[in-house]
Amino acid sequence: MNVLMIGDVFGESGRAAVARLLPGLRREHAADLVVANVENAAGGFGVTPAFARAFLDQGVDVMTSGNHIWDKREIVEYIAKENLLLRPANYPAGTPGVGWVTVKAGPHRVAVLNLMGRVFMNPIDCPFRTADAVLPELRRETSIILVDMHAEATSESVAMGWYLDGRVSAVVGTHRHVQTADERVLPGGTAYITDLGLTGPTDGVIGVDRETIIQRFLTQMPTRFEPAKGPAALHGVVITVDPESGRASAIRRVQVPA
Ligand SMILES: [Fe+2]
Repeated sequence: MNVLMIGDVFGESGRAAVARLLPGLRREHAADLVVANVENAAGGFGVTPAFARAFLDQGVDVMTSGNHIWDKREIVEYIAKENLLLRPANYPAGTPGVGWVTVKAGPHRVAVLNLMGRVFMNPIDCPFRTADAVLPELRRETSIILVDMHAEATSESVAMGWYLDGRVSAVVGTHRHVQTADERVLPGGTAYITDLGLTGPTDGVIGVDRETIIQRFLTQMPTRFEPAKGPAALHGVVITVDPESGRASAIRRVQVPA
């Protein structure tokens, strides 16, 4: 089976890219399941219930997130009821929403687990020990397990890839908004990439208007972030998984101009 995993959808141009490109990509890659990180869908900060519903309508099967998930206050009520929008599983106990879900993809059941790193990020619970705690429960339901490791440090994503190699079908990174070129299937059968990249404006600074960010670097003064204008692209990967064993056999990067 094939899984399309889409990197952080950022702002209006990212949302438009998903709406326009997803039906064709699903066909082209014979994707049985589509996962997208949507935490920056609302102008770069969070996601609203309306945008989340639209992604589901457009063919996204599971949405993942990260540190920006709480930026839109109204998402708290939504995420408490909609298990197809995940927040990192290693947020402290009592946080609204869930960090993993299992869904049907054709005849198969697939689990998606969302984790978040702690290096240069908020010090939440340990993502490695959280994975250890959750995986036995997921494996009782399916051998096809996809992990979104939302992290700032490349080292933390790489470490998670090796830590989970042979225990999950894929570990893909998000959050950095720059696609890495290190995709590979690890020896234990886990497809890995440090970061899926950005789905949104290509001519900004990781999605944000470049003049604003350059001024901030020059002056160190606070600036208001606006999504960059201009061309956009969709970034992600297509992963081929043996549905019986859950082992990945291939991972290919996807970069499509919107
Ligand atoms: Fe993030």
